[in-house]
Amino acid sequence: MKKLKDGYELYDPKDMPKIPQSSLKNYSSKMCKFAVPHDGFRVLVLPDPHLKTKPNGKNWEADVSPSLWAALNFGEDFKPDMTIIPGDLMELEVISFFGKNNLRAKENQRLSNDFELANQILNWIDKFTKGEKVYLFGNHESRLTHYLNENPELIGTLSIEKNLHLKERKWKFFEEGKVMKVGHACFTHGWYWNLHHSKKHVSEIGENVFYGHTHDLQSFSKPNPAQRPIIGQSLGCLCDLNPAWLRNKPNKWINSFGIFYFSKNGDFTYYTPVIINGCFWWGGKYYTPNGRRKGD
Ligand SMILES: [Fe+2]
Repeated sequence: MKKLKDGYELYDPKDMPKIPQSSLKNYSSKMCKFAVPHDGFRVLVLPDPHLKTKPNGKNWEADVSPSLWAALNFGEDFKPDMTIIPGDLMELEVISFFGKNNLRAKENQRLSNDFELANQILNWIDKFTKGEKVYLFGNHESRLTHYLNENPELIGTLSIEKNLHLKERKWKFFEEGKVMKVGHACFTHGWYWNLHHSKKHVSEIGENVFYGHTHDLQSFSKPNPAQRPIIGQSLGCLCDLNPAWLRNKPNKWINSFGIFYFSKNGDFTYYTPVIINGCFWWGGKYYTPNGRRKGD
């Protein structure tokens, strides 16, 4: 150990205790940072698609929100430099603790079909994304972890990473709760669900933060001491607004997603188009689940 003249001590790496690598895992950084490489860097954020399938005779069909198809049609035109999925890509209903005893709802449902659909959606995103792809796991991805905790004999056979071929696709992926910071904007699945959740997110993280999880659009902003805004924004969702488990209860969910343009210095402008019945306008084009057409 080196002694410094003002009384502080400087640890030499040689003096550091030997800590097994696995025990360091829990102390690894909660945040991954990405420096914006050029002006006009485009980021597409696709929150909470909750992909699922339903049986159709001997086959299956996608059981997803039309808003997702519209957002993906937009993605083809937008050609993002980076696409972020901030969690809940798949519903994973068939292995959920909540529906454990509802065998009627699970009749003929197959996890393999859900993974097949998710792979097809990722194929589409892989095609139109020019650069980085980031997947921040949410609470629905954790359903698989809980399932494996109950069925440990399947560990190694089933995982989000393996069944969605994330490494082969060159996606960066992060466990639930972690943050990806792009320039001055933090992205995560979202931690809070209270009435003023955007304020809570800003208060806790102290930086610009964009998230899914709550399925609504809510914004809270405040200036920091340098008079630069700090914004907390939930980005809506791309899932069914009235899933069966809600039993027609009113909710605050809204179909939307995030469009971001970054400057090289990390500053950014963002938009959250509201999608109604699977349709929205952007840049003079009308996007629908079936494609897009030029506006009048
Ligand atoms: Fe969600």
